[in-house]
Amino acid sequence: MQHNNTNSIAKTSNHDVQKNILEVSHLKKTFQIKSPDGKKGLLKAVDDVSFKIKKGETFSLVGESGCGKSTLGRTLLGLYTPDRGSKILFNGEDNSNIPKSKRKNFAKQAQLIFQDPSACLNPRRTIKQILLEPFKIHKMKNGEAKIMELMDMVGLASRFLDRFPHEMSGGQKQRVGIARALALGPELIVCDEPVSALDVSIQAQVINLLEDLQKQLNLTYLFISHDLSVVHHISDRVAVMYLGKIVELTTRDNLYEQTQHPYTKALLSSIPDICGEPREKIILTGDVPSPSNPPSGCRFHTRCPAVMDICKTKEPDFIQTSSNHFVACHICTK
Ligand SMILES: Nc1ncnc2c1ncn2[C@@H]1O[C@H](COP(=O)(O)OP(=O)(O)OP(=O)(O)O)[C@@H](O)[C@H]1O
Ligand SMILES: [Mg+2]
Repeated sequence: MQHNNTNSIAKTSNHDVQKNILEVSHLKKTFQIKSPDGKKGLLKAVDDVSFKIKKGETFSLVGESGCGKSTLGRTLLGLYTPDRGSKILFNGEDNSNIPKSKRKNFAKQAQLIFQDPSACLNPRRTIKQILLEPFKIHKMKNGEAKIMELMDMVGLASRFLDRFPHEMSGGQKQRVGIARALALGPELIVCDEPVSALDVSIQAQVINLLEDLQKQLNLTYLFISHDLSVVHHISDRVAVMYLGKIVELTTRDNLYEQTQHPYTKALLSSIPDICGEPREKIILTGDVPSPSNPPSGCRFHTRCPAVMDICKTKEPDFIQTSSNHFVACHICTK
């Protein structure tokens, strides 16, 4: 049993596939918080996670609301400063604490697609102005020609360039969000719930677009979602988060067919027909504990249907249990 997670992935057609674009070790992000009665406290939104993402793959993060998915994605992009001791290597270079002066340049390499396209597109600007902005900020020429290319890439007619965001549908606005993320030619895109604000009928179109763009541009995605059907469709590998920790990390097929962690089993039981044998419904009891005061031992022990005594006191290590499969659970590794 080893603690490293250098996995092979499904998309072997990509010649560059073995290279890690991101190597994350012991990443932590703590927020200072104030309780309603004014007491100061610490909230460990991401608490000691390690993983690698290979160039060209889609690496998904799943877990319930508040488990730290967005914080992890934003910290990787330099939008939050990680705690001391965290290490983020981007294409082999230390990106753990990007100074402000370098952040602008990093935007050319890594970008974010947001959940709610309406909230992230300036309502007073036309689509043309919105798409030209990155080129202006980076003093790049040919912006006008590039935005025509971008519109074509995301399947929007050029007539939309003179429209304002409110004159477009949710799906069209998300296409603009994708075009803007692509403007500077990034290698990595963090897609934070990119389809959850869209109608179900539009979700598949946007997912297909993301997949086509990935092939065309050799993009790497960190795909954040709570929708396990979408994650099953798009992912090469999946990491399951619970209260700031990764509890299971494996290939997409392993996760759905050889599920190990009781938390993952419970999440998957809510979509019984997705693949393999029909699953027995597991209903988790108890509320999700607060990350500002997590349970001792295994953080999941207060809700785990298979809890053992050791789970209440000893935090499980993140251990390799089979090829390409890592899990933090005393039950799975006993
Ligand atoms: N800027 C902040 N200051 C203080 N606490 C924060 C901040 N941002 C996030 N948190 C807290 O960190 C924890 C993780 O939040 P995060 O938004 O990363 O979760 P998430 O998994 O993305 O949830 P969701 O699925 O709802 O988007 C939550 O408890 C949240 O309240
Ligand atoms: Mg989030």
